[in-house]
Formats: sequence, C-alpha cells, structure tokens
Amino acid sequence: MCLSRSKCKICSQEVQQVLSFGKMPIANGFLKADDFHQEYFFELACGFCEHCKTFQLLHQTDPSQMFHEQYAFYTSTSRYMSAHFEAMALNYIQHWLPNKKDPFVIELGSNDGTMLKHFAERGIRHLGIEASQNVAEIARKNGVETRCCFFNDTTAEEIKQNYGKVDLISVANVHFSNMNEVAKGVSLLLKDHGIFVFENPYLGNIIKNVAYDQIYDEHAFIFGLNSVSNIFEREGLEVFHVEAQETHGGSIRYYLCHKGKHSKRSSVMELLHQENDVLNLNRVETYRTFAKNCEQRQQELVALLKKLQAEGKRVVGYAATAKSTTILNYCSIGPKLISCIYDTTPIKQGKYSPGMHIPIKPYTADWYKTADYVVLFAWNHAKEIFEKESEFTKNGGQWILFTPQIT
Ligand code: TYD
Repeated sequence: MCLSRSKCKICSQEVQQVLSFGKMPIANGFLKADDFHQEYFFELACGFCEHCKTFQLLHQTDPSQMFHEQYAFYTSTSRYMSAHFEAMALNYIQHWLPNKKDPFVIELGSNDGTMLKHFAERGIRHLGIEASQNVAEIARKNGVETRCCFFNDTTAEEIKQNYGKVDLISVANVHFSNMNEVAKGVSLLLKDHGIFVFENPYLGNIIKNVAYDQIYDEHAFIFGLNSVSNIFEREGLEVFHVEAQETHGGSIRYYLCHKGKHSKRSSVMELLHQENDVLNLNRVETYRTFAKNCEQRQQELVALLKKLQAEGKRVVGYAATAKSTTILNYCSIGPKLISCIYDTTPIKQGKYSPGMHIPIKPYTADWYKTADYVVLFAWNHAKEIFEKESEFTKNGGQWILFTPQIT
C-alpha cells in the first residue's frame, strides 16, 4: 500500500514538490532472486512545506513494508556508532540524570539495545521501544528490556499506565511517519522536568553536501531546527539546547522539554541564524537548487563508472547501506557497473540490492584482491573503514566517494 499525499504530514498545508528520484524500492529491502518478481516500488519524491518548514517525502510507504522480523539494520555493526551510543548514554547519566532518584529512561527505535545496554548494565530503569522483532530479540538477549511495537500516543498511554512517567526519552536516527502522534506520545509520557532528546542527520548538511542518498523510505522527514521546533511546539514542547554531532555526515542532537521548564541556551539562536540567514533552509528555492545539484552528481557518477568499465577496471561496492539504494536506483547502476557489494551483515549476504539487484557478498579479509576501485556506500563511516582497509590502498586500490563531491 502506498499512502500518497500532497498535504503536509505535519500541518496539513499544501506542500510543493521540489524533486523526484523516480521509482524506488524499499531501501533496506535486500532480497533473494526468487523474490525479484514481487518487489515493491514507490515514487521517491520530496516536498518542502513553507508553512512548518518541514522537508518530507510526498509518498510514504506503509511502515510494515519497512520494519519487520527481517529488518536488516543492526546498530552494533559499526564500532564508531557503538562508541557514539556509549558516549550518549554516559552523557545522559552524568549530565542529565545525576540528581534524579531512581530515573527512568526510554529509547524509541532502540534497535539491538546498543545504547540502552549501558543503562541495563548499571541497573538503571529503562525500556526500549522497537518495531522490528529480530533486532528487539537481540536487545533482550543483551539484558535490555524491550517492547516490540510502533510508538504513538496510544502506546505512550499504555507505557504510562504500566511504568509511569519518564525522566528522559531518547531517539536517534529513527524515522517516524506519524510525527504528530510521536509528539503527542512524548508530551504525554515526559515528566514535568523531563528531557526529550531527538537526534537526526541534519538537513543543512544534506543540502550543503548534496548527500541525497540520505533520502529514502525510512526517512519520511529530514529535520532542521525550524521543523523540529514547529512539530513539537504543537504539543507544548520546546527546543532548549542543540549540539552538533559527527555521525551520519553531520547530525544535530535537539534537547526538548515541556515549554519553559529548562532555560533556553544560546546554541538554539545560533543554529536558527545559521538555518535562516546562511543556509536558507527556510526557502523553497534552496531545495530546487538541491534538486539540480543531485542531477549533476548523478551524471558525474555514472560517467565515472562507465569510463572505468570501458577501461576494463574491476569496480565493487563497500557496505550495502540503505542509502546506497537511492544512489543505485536513481543513477540506474546495476551489476554491469558495480559487480558486487561487500557487507558485514549476515542477513544481507547472499541476497541482492533492492531494485538494481547487485549481489551482496560476505565481507572477507581479502575482498580487496577482487577490485581496482571500490565505491564507498558507507561514507559516513569513512574514518573507521579507511583505518581498517589500508591493505587495499597499499595495493594501489582506489576509493570512490560521491559526497560532498565525486572523488
Ligand atoms: P550505515 O551507513 O550505518 O547504514 P544505513 O545507510 O543502512 O543506515 O551502514 C551500515 C551498513 O554498512 C551495514 O550493512 C554494515 C555495513 N558496513 C560494513 O559492511 N563494513 C563496515 O566497516 C561498516 C562500518 C559498515
């Protein structure tokens, strides 16, 4: 089922379409050859609401197409992300919860429990909310109390009845299609002086770096401060602090509270100035320019891969990310241009990439002997990967990056 719309999913005003990447499969929908004939596609088009300033997908896929018992993303696969979530947990414990008696922490989209296990280990009351059964099960095995469900105002009410109100609610890189219900749920669950932390890849970085691969089904909205403020303000919450994070090519961690319960820090005004006066994220023209930049990147990448193919070079992909689905399908790059993608996630191995059907091969220590060039789809983990793969470079291998430029 495809829930098509032209009204803003947040404020119901008219949304202007600014770009379309054409027909797109589910980004994490890695599949077996037997299932090619029943693959699901939708139009990946984006719009910008000039009223509430939210950049959003115009056609949303049904959540059950994306989150299920075969969900292919495990937070713990990246060493850097595990370290990031450990630091996040320690930051909460040391700076935001120290004076609380018997604090209670909830994470929405808790995946395999990478963040919450630091609370579990310390005996701090916690609860993970996770829609995909397979990753929720791993979290439970790690000692993290986890409820397998989608988060909305109804589930929030149930949690409140069963566990009481919450001191801190954390969400990182989780993408909800029902943001208004999420905002209602958070407002309902959060204690009077509680803190809600919302962390996501930052719209400003995506636009600036033409990182259009961050746009896919799960990312129904791409957030900036203006939109986050507008979305949660409707439920009496306000942003009182923001912090930039390095993850996913540049993210923002927004700290919210019930209106007036924490004093507003200067970081909020500084980011607002950046958005409105420097990056022009509040103007629809910015997104039309972005669309043109995406087209240019598409042409450059395809030209490069065709040139390498003509020269008889062996080109493979590194990391079968959800992001790669947008790149591969928008650029129509199939197995002729990239023969396979190496990936460490067992559930993806032996399957094919969504839409373009490039084989996903298990990552092995000597993968690099099979390639002259490798396209780095997990560019957001470049530091970790370059450290790990010095053999490839030493042997004359070359990396292809497509953000912020084709290099
Ligand atoms: P990430 O950029 O976090 O994912 P997504 O775009 O899917 O949100 O990358 C996760 C994928 O990258 C996952 O399939 C595992 C793979 N990967 C490797 O194969 N090797 C690595 O060294 C890293 C860091 C990730």
